[in-house]
Amino acid sequence: MKAILLEKYGRPKEVLELKEIPIPNLKENEVLIKIYTTTVNDYDWSMVRGKPYLHRLLFGLSKPKNPIVGMELAGVVEGIGAKVSKLKVGDAVFGDISNFGFGTFAEYIGIHEDAVLVKPDELSFEIAAAIPHASLLALQALRGIAKIKKGQKVLINGGGGGVGTIGLQIAKLSNCEVTGVDSDEKLGMMKSLGYDQVIDYKKTDFTKTGEQYDLILDCKSTKSPFSYLRALMPTGIYVTIGGNPSSLISVLFWGMIFTLFSSKKLKILGLKPNEGLDEIAQLIIQNKISPEIDGPYTLENTADLIQYFGEGKHKGKIVIKVSGRS
Ligand SMILES: NC(=O)c1ccc[n+]([C@@H]2O[C@H](COP(=O)([O-])OP(=O)(O)OC[C@H]3O[C@@H](n4cnc5c(N)ncnc54)[C@H](OP(=O)(O)O)[C@@H]3O)[C@@H](O)[C@H]2O)c1
Repeated sequence: MKAILLEKYGRPKEVLELKEIPIPNLKENEVLIKIYTTTVNDYDWSMVRGKPYLHRLLFGLSKPKNPIVGMELAGVVEGIGAKVSKLKVGDAVFGDISNFGFGTFAEYIGIHEDAVLVKPDELSFEIAAAIPHASLLALQALRGIAKIKKGQKVLINGGGGGVGTIGLQIAKLSNCEVTGVDSDEKLGMMKSLGYDQVIDYKKTDFTKTGEQYDLILDCKSTKSPFSYLRALMPTGIYVTIGGNPSSLISVLFWGMIFTLFSSKKLKILGLKPNEGLDEIAQLIIQNKISPEIDGPYTLENTADLIQYFGEGKHKGKIVIKVSGRS
């Protein structure tokens, strides 16, 4: 099978190589999935470069533990291990496999059957691969932690990325007024997607405009917790899903302290892979939300696409068509 191999850390174009390797042998709880579509995520950008260095504690100190990266897929089961009970050959499946391993930049993967769910027929393979990670970060942050309410004033920082573009649509289902913050090139696309206001983060610091929000969803925390408190209404909640490690540590620390004497809340989301995926799939099937897709591209483009992701040039989710139907 064709796969994109990573043998050492470095710049994507210098360390990723398309190679022919054997199709994996299955363990007893694993299924062999022919991958139709996959996507590029923040993890891939970190795992290929081994940066931030903290990630090497998880992904390999001197060289990558995972020779093939990639964590989201949609495809079809072509083989099953002796103890597989929930899936059968021919099932179309999708999911975020990161709780069980990595390796979706390849034509096939052998992975624990619990890593994926059966794909509803109404979802295309392109859409199915694009939703598990980003949509669930948005759903678990907005509905799970922040308990978003009708008509709230919401701000999404990093609003033009994979999480922000779905987060906007989830917030609009609750008739919220939504401001999106991102770089200048994405503001036009964000306006056309439905943001009520947009802010260029390179020109304006949203925590210093005097505006306050009921809910802030942050995809790229870079500021001090005190800045975020300033931008919250008296009972507002700030939820971050990721960003600068020092900013995240301060949010965690000060968030615990502030709950003791303030009605404003600062929270960090720890993603539970695939939890809520059925709910997201139904919202898409009912045409209530729709992921923003950048692509589809081909497996041969993977190194360039990870670089493109890292430079923040993508709009929504980058989808790679590996084989099979759309
Ligand atoms: N909590 C968890 O369990 C968990 C698990 C996995 C991943 N994550 C996190 O989830 C996030 C991924 O979000 P995503 O898929 O939406 O990423 P994305 O598609 O890369 O979108 C992020 C957006 O933020 C913009 N941006 C960059 N710096 C910014 C700043 N200082 N202020 C405002 N906007 C900024 C980027 O634009 P430009 O680059 O053009 O500036 C980009 O449009 C990452 O932070 C990742 O670490 C969290």
